[in-house]
Amino acid sequence: MDTKPPEGANTYRIAAIPGDGIGAEVVPAGLRMLEALAARAGFGLDIETFDWGSDYYRRTGLMMPEDGPARLKDFDAIYFGAVGATDIPDHVTLWGLRLAICQGLDQYANVRPTRLLPGIEGPLRGVTAAELDWVIVRENSEGEYSGQGGRTHRGLPEEIATEVSIFTRAGVTRIMRYAFALARSRPRKLLTVVTKSNAQRHGLVLWDEIAAEVAREFPDVTWDKMLVDAMTMRMVLKPATLDTIVATNLHADILSDLAAALAGSLGIAPTANLNPERHFPSMFEPIHGSAFDIVGKGIANPLGCFWSAVLMLDHLGEHAASARLMRAIERVTADKMLHPPDLGGSARTEEVTGAVVRAIWAENA
Ligand code: IPM
Ligand code: MG
Repeated sequence: MDTKPPEGANTYRIAAIPGDGIGAEVVPAGLRMLEALAARAGFGLDIETFDWGSDYYRRTGLMMPEDGPARLKDFDAIYFGAVGATDIPDHVTLWGLRLAICQGLDQYANVRPTRLLPGIEGPLRGVTAAELDWVIVRENSEGEYSGQGGRTHRGLPEEIATEVSIFTRAGVTRIMRYAFALARSRPRKLLTVVTKSNAQRHGLVLWDEIAAEVAREFPDVTWDKMLVDAMTMRMVLKPATLDTIVATNLHADILSDLAAALAGSLGIAPTANLNPERHFPSMFEPIHGSAFDIVGKGIANPLGCFWSAVLMLDHLGEHAASARLMRAIERVTADKMLHPPDLGGSARTEEVTGAVVRAIWAENA
């Protein structure tokens, strides 16, 4: 696909990886939406689609070519769908594709905004949109997902397996700086640092210490600390006391599912996997997975993929287009007739996509 921009406008090279399951339904919808947005907002797109994922694995024994991350290096951004299949173990599909890209391109900051969008009712009684407006920053390169460990004495009663969490001063400091800076850029300038440093007394005490060190660089940010178990209660009982949240790879993985559910549906939740220094391209994807129960039915919610494009456009510096797309998404969620089944409605992927495209064009600004 190739969209010609007006003279002097930027053209972005985007690598699209639809992947598995409903990823192959929502990414094409996202590309269609992006083509419309590019035409409306006046930038160019040069999109190359990669057929990596479980089908590729069945053909080749690999989820992507060995030099996959290297092939992505020169793109401006990566637009990703989902990974996971019923007949291939999840750790094979995940490590073979998504985590290999995140680690290979040093996308160490995983950013997950959560808001109650117009027209969507979350499960929390009486909580307004202003009271549930969070962004979760997930450490995305080490911690519990470091990939270190092993198994020996397989199948024997004395079999052992280790899954080693790694916390490095460099890794924790850079995610902490990213989170403090993000908190500072938001109106409330409020950061909550999540750990489990009462029980995990090495790596997570290091988190606490580094948080205190980095906090001194950001005197205008108010911050506090929470243990992850107590954090789940605070998210449910006192959502308005939270704004920006930073946590380890696994803790933030779990908290972001809770956050998505509290905001109404996993189907709308977006993610950015960022390399903030821009040494490598960043990757944008909906949080939902491949969702095999609804594959092929045409009812996947494309809004998580669209909201991820909002984050992608912001990262590319197309802030006006990003804001226009977010307004279009919110116009669509405000209309319950346009809610797909995950939001309790019966709208189809196609209808939701068409409605967002119309909303993009309808605005005069
Ligand atoms: C997510 C997902 C993945 C993760 C799964 C698919 C392994 O839950 O992006 O949150 O834990 O990273
Ligand atoms: Mg998750």
